[in-house]
Amino acid sequence: MKAVVLIKNGSAFKAFEIREIPKPSVMQGEVLIKVAAFGLNFADGMARNGMYKEAPPLPAVLGYDVAGTIEEIGDGVQNLKKGDRVTAMTRFGGYAAYAVTNASAVAIIPDQLDAATATALTTQYCTAFYAASEMVNLHNGNKVLIQSGAGGVGTALIQFAKYKQCEIFATAGSGDKINYLKQLGAHHPINYNTENFETVIKKITGQKGVNVIFDAVGGKSVKKGMRLLAPGGRLVCYGAAALSNKNIFGKIKTALQFGFYHPAMLMMPSKSIIGINMLAIADSQPAVIERCLSAVMKLYEAGIFAPEIAKVFNANEIAEAHDFLEKRKSIGKVVVQW
Ligand SMILES: NC(=O)c1ccc[n+]([C@@H]2O[C@H](COP(=O)([O-])OP(=O)(O)OC[C@H]3O[C@@H](n4cnc5c(N)ncnc54)[C@H](OP(=O)(O)O)[C@@H]3O)[C@@H](O)[C@H]2O)c1
Repeated sequence: MKAVVLIKNGSAFKAFEIREIPKPSVMQGEVLIKVAAFGLNFADGMARNGMYKEAPPLPAVLGYDVAGTIEEIGDGVQNLKKGDRVTAMTRFGGYAAYAVTNASAVAIIPDQLDAATATALTTQYCTAFYAASEMVNLHNGNKVLIQSGAGGVGTALIQFAKYKQCEIFATAGSGDKINYLKQLGAHHPINYNTENFETVIKKITGQKGVNVIFDAVGGKSVKKGMRLLAPGGRLVCYGAAALSNKNIFGKIKTALQFGFYHPAMLMMPSKSIIGINMLAIADSQPAVIERCLSAVMKLYEAGIFAPEIAKVFNANEIAEAHDFLEKRKSIGKVVVQW
């Protein structure tokens, strides 16, 4: 089968090759999917740059989400059959014509849902749902700050916070993205390149701050976030985009900028920090992924979740797709089709 193989770390334009590799075989509890489209996630760029320790050794096939048709079913799989149109989370291996994954990470998609859009509903929407519903349980009236609001996960978080009738503060780095945040229904879009989000939010809230922050930027953004949390507030850390494209000194500086937090410093002002890594959850608790994916599909069918597709590339444009995401040009999900 054809696969987009990561052959070396570094520039997207030198890192990939489309190669013929063996089709994966199905084990107990797994399904084989003929891939129509696969999604890009920000972590793919980190893996390409050799910054993702869970990534398989080179040559490797990256990819966390695919959409297509079930071609083969492993022993013990129920509720799925050959020919079903599905979307699925993969533990790498998604950048290929066929991908194998655990049946608990697969959802049947409605006929009218195209493969490209379906890829967004897996990793990015499940991460957002797990963070906002399971780890935080957003409530009506919560003041919520969503960093990188115009991204794949950010879009899902805004849609969920809107559904929960929260007051939404969202950041992004360009005028186009700010307009998109307004369209999504964010009440207070903030361009962090022209305004200090901490100052703006303190002013709007009368110094009271916010109840929940979703942050995948990391570094000083986390330290500012801790200052912005009201008593009872929760800061959800689920990424460290600020570490990307930095040399070792830049990485150390950014790592220090997160700050250091003793439990007493959390207890006294009643603030919490929550860390999320969906790979760790998928490895240890596949039932959580199954539950989140099923909830995400219901919210999609109810019209609450509606992925935005930034751009669809062909497989031979994988370098352009990576570059587009990495250079912060995307609004919503970046997808690749065969
Ligand atoms: N923990 C988990 O299990 C998990 C799962 C999924 C995703 N994530 C994390 O969630 C974040 C969003 O993922 P995504 O796939 O939805 O990507 P995305 O948000 O669609 O794209 C990345 C966006 O991050 C923002 N950004 C902030 N600092 C950046 C930097 N230094 N370099 C590049 N971009 C930067 C940019 O938006 P602006 O131009 O507006 O700044 C960029 O468009 C990523 O950090 C990812 O690693 C974590």
